[in-house]
Order: sequence, then structure tokens, then C-alpha cells
Amino acid sequence: MRKNIVAGNWKMNKTLQEGLTFSNELKKLLNNKSVNCEVVIGTPFIHLSEVAKSFKGTKVMVAAQNCADKESGAYTGEVSASMISSTNATHVILGHSERRAYYNETPELLKDKVLQALSSNLTPIFCVGEALEERESDKHFDVVAEQLKGSLFELSKDDFSKLILAYEPVWAIGTGKTASAEQAQEMHAFIRKTLVEKYGEEVANDTSILYGGSCNAGNAKELFSNPDVDGGLIGGASLEAEKFLPIIEAFN
Ligand code: 13P
Repeated sequence: MRKNIVAGNWKMNKTLQEGLTFSNELKKLLNNKSVNCEVVIGTPFIHLSEVAKSFKGTKVMVAAQNCADKESGAYTGEVSASMISSTNATHVILGHSERRAYYNETPELLKDKVLQALSSNLTPIFCVGEALEERESDKHFDVVAEQLKGSLFELSKDDFSKLILAYEPVWAIGTGKTASAEQAQEMHAFIRKTLVEKYGEEVANDTSILYGGSCNAGNAKELFSNPDVDGGLIGGASLEAEKFLPIIEAFN
């Protein structure tokens, strides 16, 4: 059975102290509440260990936002998947459009990052999504299919089934312009159909596909109520515990 998941992505926001203030606030808000989805918080690398410690004993898990494509060695400034794992983080966001666009991350490179993550038992949250001009020229399905194929489709069925996917249309990220529930469902159904063709019904049905892009307390319920939308990857609205909580509660 696939899981419902609400994951935050802080991107390059918050000092360590601010991160810990958030985790204390979210813990307080979640205390004695029933939570009907998995909750993951994606923090900067240097926050991982402390934030993971702070959420210990709760259901909240912690994600990195990137990892190196190599195992270890002379790669100054890089952070390996095994280092992330050693902080008690459990997930890693890979293939985010900001990393593809600003840091030139290619499908080939992402393939290696996914392998590194899996070999350190991290769950990749692998992002795909088209730019505005690609949607306007009706290329969005092809673009997303290529992103999946280019980085993931050499994985065995067993390895693929460890992934979480996130559909994040670039034009909806940080713009306040959310995909409509119909647009999200249409693309998520397309992704699932692509997975059926490659890995079969069972793997496709068990894969969680999150929506990301200006998702917030006001639209989460409508987006998540679609049959192929299994939760959200939340940027701006994950920065304050009071704004993040109602997105988690959209599954109640
Ligand atoms: P926003 O929710 O700020 O649009 O960001 C979405 C995102 O990029 C999450 O990874």
C-alpha cells in the first residue's frame, strides 16, 4: 500500500537555532494529535543531526536536500549519502528543479545520486516537473517521462520501489500559482501509467507521488483528495509550524 506523505523543504532558509525553534513548535502542535500521514522535514545539511535528535521519539522524519554522487574521497565541499545517514536523517530530496537549473544537475548525475542514496538506506524523494514554456508548448508529459527514464529506469524493481516521487511544475514553485487539482491529477496519473509500463501495476500502485508547488493550508485538501496525489512537498508553507500543521491535517 502506498503511503500518504507531507514533506517540507526548507531550501536555504533558517539558522540552526531557527530550525530547532520550528521543531519544538511542531512537536508541541502535534502532541496528542492523530497524524494520518508520514511527515518529513527537509533541512540544510548542518541542521540534520540536531533536528533529527529533536524529533526523536515522534513520527517526524528528517530529509537532506541533496547528496553527493560519489561515495567518499577528495570532493571538497560535498556531503555523502552515508554522512547524511549517520545523522539519523532517513530521506533525501533529489532532482529538485532548483538544483537542476542553478547547479546543472543532469539526469546522469542524478542517477548516481539516487544510487548513492539507496546504498546508504536513504529514501530518495525524487522530483520531476516541467517549466512553463514546456507546458505551454504541450511538452510537459514528454519532459516528465524523460526525467523519470533518464535517472530512474535503470533501477531494479526492488530498488525503484524504495523511492518516493514528487511532481513539482517549475511554474508553480514559489510563485503562488498552484497547479489546479485537475492538472495535478492528470500528471500524477500519467506518471503512474508510465510506472505501470516499466515496473508493473504493483510497483506503480505502491509508489507515493507527492505534489509540490505553492501547496498550502488553503489548497492541500483539494489537491490531496485526488486519487493519484499522495501528499505534498511543501516549500514556503513548511517554514512555520502553524502553517505546516494544517497541511499535515489535510489527511485527517
Ligand atoms: P513552494 O511550496 O514554496 O512553492 O516550493 C515548492 C518546492 O519547491 C518544494 O520542494
